Amino acid sequence: MITLHMRDFTFPSGFRWGTATSAHQVEGNNVHNDWWVWEQQPGRIRHGDRSGLACNWWAAAEADFDRAAGLHQNAHRLSIEWSRVEPQPGRWDEEALDRYRQMLRALHARGIEPMVTLHHFTNPRWFAQRGGWERADAPSLFLRYVERVVPALGEYVPIWCTLNEPVGWVVSAYVTGRWPPGRRSLAAAVRVLGNLVRAHAGAYRAIHRLLPQAQVGLAHYLRLFDPADGRSRLDRAVAAAQDRFVNRAFLDAVTAGRVRAFPWVATIPEAAETLDFVGVNYYTRDFVAFDLRAPHRLFGRNFLNPHAPHSDGGYGEIYPEGMYRALRLAQGYGRPVYVTENGLPDQDDDQRGDFIVSHLRAVRQAMQEGVDVRGYYHWSLVDNFEWVDGWSLRFGLIAIDQHTQERRPRASAGLYGEICRRNALP
Ligand code: FCB
Repeated sequence: MITLHMRDFTFPSGFRWGTATSAHQVEGNNVHNDWWVWEQQPGRIRHGDRSGLACNWWAAAEADFDRAAGLHQNAHRLSIEWSRVEPQPGRWDEEALDRYRQMLRALHARGIEPMVTLHHFTNPRWFAQRGGWERADAPSLFLRYVERVVPALGEYVPIWCTLNEPVGWVVSAYVTGRWPPGRRSLAAAVRVLGNLVRAHAGAYRAIHRLLPQAQVGLAHYLRLFDPADGRSRLDRAVAAAQDRFVNRAFLDAVTAGRVRAFPWVATIPEAAETLDFVGVNYYTRDFVAFDLRAPHRLFGRNFLNPHAPHSDGGYGEIYPEGMYRALRLAQGYGRPVYVTENGLPDQDDDQRGDFIVSHLRAVRQAMQEGVDVRGYYHWSLVDNFEWVDGWSLRFGLIAIDQHTQERRPRASAGLYGEICRRNALP
């Protein structure tokens, strides 16, 4: 249970209060990446939705930065779209880099510190067509892109995430095949994971070489897995196996240079000690029951707690204690922690206010018990294109009509803004 004392409602000074977004979900017209291609194929995206103009950030992000500043935010996490910077192999678009510089300056001008992610799910089409992350030279191509971006944008960016949710991304893209490239191969998934670890490690070193003061980490998806029946050894075993694979394997790789999380067993010495902070993306938890018919899920059948409230569309259980548990898990890696994402789909906004307060209480509680949490980035500032769920899930503090581009702040935006302004919970 989360039990805070009154004095703990205030956060330390300098705490980062922000929101998170990603390029493809907000910029619009990202025609050179693999998701754009995927969206054109029938049956891939719910209701046949497309990202289209998205939130029109490529043309007008500044208007939403004004709104973020109006909500008293001092931080924002955004991503760079590789396919804009390098639309053809080895051809660099200086105008795209200029636009990113402009956006980063616009954030600073509003007192908002940027955190930048270098890979958030999308890949250039040319990269995907030549075999994407399965190819052994993928990390070196990623590194070439990183070595372009970092000198161009570095003066504005103190905190970098190399990758967003590498494990979750690999599961969707290479195991279930619901995301591009739509593969279903455990062997390919394991190969890609290894390449992502190498890509991360290369990027980590390159950023430090170019910007010795930068903090470099990654945004890691953490989900809680609890046994459906705590007395069943098999349920406990599969829940533990999912926890190891989803929550710990990648972090083990980039801290110890070693992974032992069936089916991924590897030693990647060059990845050891390539993490300055752990970025935690926390959303929800699953219950897990042993199921012989689910080998691709490590023999677990996952389901949401039927006795607790869920967010829109059965997206997840609302489970604030999971935030506390996720932060404790992250603390085990001995680095500072940022909550790089946390949020829920809630179109009518009847859950978001309580969600924010209860999850922030869990953050505060973890801090009080010694977890070094430096910031919280709510997902998301505005409704945006939610991958295969298209426009059906609404994560924004601010609602958007994607057809008219009209914005309407939800009530929870005001509440979160007050928390940011006071640097304290209500
Ligand atoms: C996270 C993703 C982010 C967004 C939220 C809802 O897993 O990193 O892009 O889709 O979920």
